[in-house]
Amino acid sequence: MLDLNVFPSTFKWGTATAAYQIEGAAHEDGRGISIWDVFAYTPGNVKRGDSGDVACDHYHRYPEDLKLMRELGMNSYRLSLAWPRILPRGRGEVNLKGLDFYDRLIDEVLKNGIDPFVTLYHWDLPQALQQLGGWANRDTVSAFEEYTSVVVGLLGDRVKNWITHNEPWCAAFLGHGAGVHAPGLKDVGVSMQVAHHLLLSHGKAVQIIKNHNPEHKVGITLILGPSHAASDSPEDQAAAARHDAFLNTIYLDPLYGKGYPKVLFDHIPDLAPTVQDGDMETIATPTDFLGVNYYQRSILKHSEEGPFNFEGVRPPGPEFTFFDWEVYPQGLHEVLTRVHQDYAPKEIFITENGATFEDTLTEDGQVHDEQRRFYIERHLKAVQDAIQEGVPVQGYFAWSFLDNFEWAEGYEKRFGLVYVDYPTQNRYVKDSGKWYSQTVKKALGLVEV
Ligand code: FCB
Repeated sequence: MLDLNVFPSTFKWGTATAAYQIEGAAHEDGRGISIWDVFAYTPGNVKRGDSGDVACDHYHRYPEDLKLMRELGMNSYRLSLAWPRILPRGRGEVNLKGLDFYDRLIDEVLKNGIDPFVTLYHWDLPQALQQLGGWANRDTVSAFEEYTSVVVGLLGDRVKNWITHNEPWCAAFLGHGAGVHAPGLKDVGVSMQVAHHLLLSHGKAVQIIKNHNPEHKVGITLILGPSHAASDSPEDQAAAARHDAFLNTIYLDPLYGKGYPKVLFDHIPDLAPTVQDGDMETIATPTDFLGVNYYQRSILKHSEEGPFNFEGVRPPGPEFTFFDWEVYPQGLHEVLTRVHQDYAPKEIFITENGATFEDTLTEDGQVHDEQRRFYIERHLKAVQDAIQEGVPVQGYFAWSFLDNFEWAEGYEKRFGLVYVDYPTQNRYVKDSGKWYSQTVKKALGLVEV
């Protein structure tokens, strides 16, 4: 049973979104092209040829959206900024209209009594930088520093919580190794170099933000999940350990000063990134919190196929989301206790957790998404258990506030607590959203328990 008394009184209750997934207005007010525009416009990359051109039209509808967020009782909101709106070519010329949008957006968030958590990079690299090699090119790190300085200069008087990167594993591996996300490259070695540059740029951004104001809180968001072996065989156990390094510790270890995991790079020495003197120290610049995105666990067996020699096995179930991701709340508890034990971040925020199911909007504007409600309740219970065991979790952001552009899946996969009817852009709070709203209001003492 969920016991809201267990959650600290300072707990951040909210939802999360990302710029490219909700804003739309892709060609308005001087926004530059991003790698996701190019990727989405390339036939075959995104289901049904969808793109973020219009998305939830949040760029125009943000006042109503934030009003709804307040009505739902949220006390915080995780959003991301579109780098190409601010620096259309990645560096150099600043787009004042882009800055103005975020200026107004943050004011609106605050006006509604909501605390913003701002992610600097949620995957929409300016295409102009991609043309110079993107994250594979070390110069992009300095472009990110420039972007961070501009943003902090504009919003640093009001935003106090910063997330440098969202899920570098996805940006690096899905974007440059598997090629299923922008920029669509398929080169595992490049993806490792990209991972290193993302981490390096994170460390630099932490320093910039802390120099601006040491009181500000800054962290990074990782996608984490348990890597379980399919059997007790030494081969499968080793495969699971390599997968854990590939997904989790390749980021966690260097961020907490432990260098890159040997279990991975002893296996693929030729694919190890080029590291310059001082890089590992920069990456390990102390942070205030770790953002954890949790969706699922992985089960691995040994495979003869390289370079990693592991292969995912379908988990036993019994419940899967529309993405075919296993519903496994105890994995969140496992991740939280492990991170606390091995790395001891000062604070942890669940910066994303949620599920896609096949929603239907009834004629009277309802979405009866019992499965999503139950999913969130069980994951919150996993958070509660971790808190009771001493893990310093300080917030939970459900993914997502609105249904939105789900990357390569387009608009088919809905994750929102609020249903978006794309043809009309009308919003309908789903049953899960109503339940979450009541839970948050109870936790914050806004309604009787
Ligand atoms: C995460 C992404 C987020 C969303 C969810 C479903 O990997 O950070 O943008 O797509 O998955």
